[in-house]
This record gives sequence, C-alpha cells and structure tokens, in this order.
Amino acid sequence: MTTDEIIASLNQKLNPGRFEHTMGVARTAKWLALKYGADSNKAYLAGILHDCAKCLSHEELLQRIEKYHITLDAISLKSPQLLHSFVGAHEAREVYGIDDEEIFDAVYYHTIGKENMSTLTRIVYLADAIEPMRNYPGVNKIRKTAEESLDEAVFMYTDSSIRFILDRGALLHPNTLALRNSFIAGV
Ligand SMILES: [Fe+2]
Ligand SMILES: [Fe+2]
Repeated sequence: MTTDEIIASLNQKLNPGRFEHTMGVARTAKWLALKYGADSNKAYLAGILHDCAKCLSHEELLQRIEKYHITLDAISLKSPQLLHSFVGAHEAREVYGIDDEEIFDAVYYHTIGKENMSTLTRIVYLADAIEPMRNYPGVNKIRKTAEESLDEAVFMYTDSSIRFILDRGALLHPNTLALRNSFIAGV
C-alpha cells in the first residue's frame, strides 16, 4: 500500500481520537527525524503504523499473536496494553505491505522501548509521548528537551512512564527498566 492508502485505511479503522493521535505521532516523528538525522519518510510511515493494531479487540489480538507466532515473555503475557505494539509490527508487514526491519522494530518497541534502540525506534517511542494531543504532567518539559537532545528527552519520558506505572501499581516491563538504566550506566 502507498502511504496515502495506509492513512485512508487507518482513518476507517481507528476511532477519530486515535487517528488524530496517529497523525500527530507521524508528523512529530518526521520532525524528529529531520532534526536528528534519521530517514524522515520511514519515521513518518512508522508513526502512521505504530498504533495500527489499536483497533483490534483483545480476542483479535490474541488470535494474531498465534497467527504470527509471536512469543510473549511473562510480563507481556499479563500486560494487555502492550499487545497492540507486537501485533502492529507484524500487521504493518502483512496487512499494509511495509517490509522494513527498522519500521518493524520501531512499531514493535514503541510502548516498552529497549536498550540500544536505533535512532528511528527512539524517534517513534518519543513521538508517541510528545505529539501535540498528549497531555500529562511534565510533557511540555519533555517537548522542550526534544528540541535539544533526543536521548535526554527519551530518558525523561522513560522516567515519566515508569513513575506512571508505579503510581498505578501496574507491571513494569524489564525492557523499560533496562532502557532507563542504560542512560545512567552509559551502556
Ligand atoms: Fe501504542
Ligand atoms: Fe500511540
């Protein structure tokens, strides 16, 4: 599918708020890519696709996990809100025809992050957090930092995301913790 066809398809499938968020992430990702030397077309496309599986029900997500032979770790198995990322990466390839490892990775890890993320993956992870519709305590500080340093903004958002998880007593995925520690340990 062309980018325009993917956008038209997602406009049908996603609810209006989610579609607006999607376009905001795509534009923010493109802006960050131009700023930090990544492929801006890939960043835009990854932004468009990052929540493509958000329209699926839990039942449908579980069916896709089986269909795509996705192996879930113990924490992901108990974290329904993470499943759309893993399924979305596969749907980007199988349903929308975007066969690109970097885009696959950016969609797959957009919620939990991981250590040693590529620039494109860091960009999509951050764009999801700071697109114009997003509103949570500290978001403006992260937006401002994103103008100066991609890594610093990713670090700030990771801390903010961990705080949010702890405040809710929710499960923290080990990838997110490893990502956070990597900034301090310098690995
Ligand atoms: Fe998402
Ligand atoms: Fe998102």
